[in-house]
Amino acid sequence: MAQVQPAAVLPPANDDRIAFFDLQRQRARLEREIKAGIDTVLGHGQFILGPEVDQLEDRLAQFAGVDHAIAVSSGRDALMIALMAMGIKAGDAVFVPAFTFAATAGAVVSVGARPVFVDVDPSTFNMDAEDLERAITEVNAAGASTPRAVMPVDLYGLPADYVAIGEVADRFGITVLSDAAQSFGSVLDGRGAGAMAPISATSFYPTKPLGCYGDGGAVLTTDARLAESVRMIRSHGRQGTGDEASVLGITGRLDTIQAAVLLAKLTVFSDELARRREIAARYDAALAPAVTVPSRPGRAKSAYALYTIRVHNRDAVHDRLADAGIGTGVFYRLALHQHPAFRHFDGRHLPVSEALAGDVLSLPIHPDLSDREVDRVIQALLDSVGSD
Ligand SMILES: Cc1ncc(COP(=O)(O)O)c(C=O)c1O
Repeated sequence: MAQVQPAAVLPPANDDRIAFFDLQRQRARLEREIKAGIDTVLGHGQFILGPEVDQLEDRLAQFAGVDHAIAVSSGRDALMIALMAMGIKAGDAVFVPAFTFAATAGAVVSVGARPVFVDVDPSTFNMDAEDLERAITEVNAAGASTPRAVMPVDLYGLPADYVAIGEVADRFGITVLSDAAQSFGSVLDGRGAGAMAPISATSFYPTKPLGCYGDGGAVLTTDARLAESVRMIRSHGRQGTGDEASVLGITGRLDTIQAAVLLAKLTVFSDELARRREIAARYDAALAPAVTVPSRPGRAKSAYALYTIRVHNRDAVHDRLADAGIGTGVFYRLALHQHPAFRHFDGRHLPVSEALAGDVLSLPIHPDLSDREVDRVIQALLDSVGSD
């Protein structure tokens, strides 16, 4: 039988550690509202497209400042459904940043189109509009595919430069689909994520700023025709509840139970965003002298899905922080053109994306972190960076 150890030799209590993501504290804060919402759904039994989905769509549209929000099964499905609604297909080229999550390019490939990788800006980590212009010009000159759309990503929660990108897109006659998977709650020039481009997709993956307890996402737009198409595609291509498929569709609906979870979380979402921004400001002030902190263009307010620094000895710093009981994350170790699934679409020079993959490191930034914990992360990071 295992011997019971005296308290003094037990390993440090778990609550001494600082988790990179911590969904349990938020659950404890909102448990009553979330359980009540789920119970209501269990009671009425409309698990697919129940009343909570309609309510959520109204609140999301209002929050983002758009006419239509359509709740769907994931962020990846939101992107794919939006591309299908836009009529993107084989033979089309869609321009995506080379430094993002694999789902961005995956959605393009899944509709048969070709993703073309565009390099990113070294300080915002978002799509570089000048490189977008070069990429479109190259695709036009090659003549093998037709430029149809650009999908900027609001990486880590910071809006892409929709003004510069929109100007290039207009000049070449292509549409902008915003991959706002990480940025619901962000603001650019007074517009919320979802309202920065003609059509946008977001994710409610559990660790996103607004996350559910499973997979979920939404398409947001002010274009009534696109919204109607998205509604049909998410539900087998049918109009309403009829059984005739008007267009090709998928099983792409958000579950009613997830809508109930999101409705409860939306009531505190603005406060949580404010806390994320407060933590970011605390990190910025203390860390700027030692590492490259995220840039904060004056026109933008990030949703801070992640707080990501650049540090040359990234892997060593990551390991030292882990030893100090502090969780960090690396998003992403590979640029898109370096993934086995997308290598065959390569062909462009993407030096900034490749450099970022080698030196980005994300620190804990969930809204339930205390100032004391943030200060511990800061101190441990400063110690780790300086100890080479
Ligand atoms: C930039 C980006 N695009 C798309 C997605 C896909 O979202 P989901 O995981 O909800 O399918 C994610 C999710 O991590 C993402 O970060």
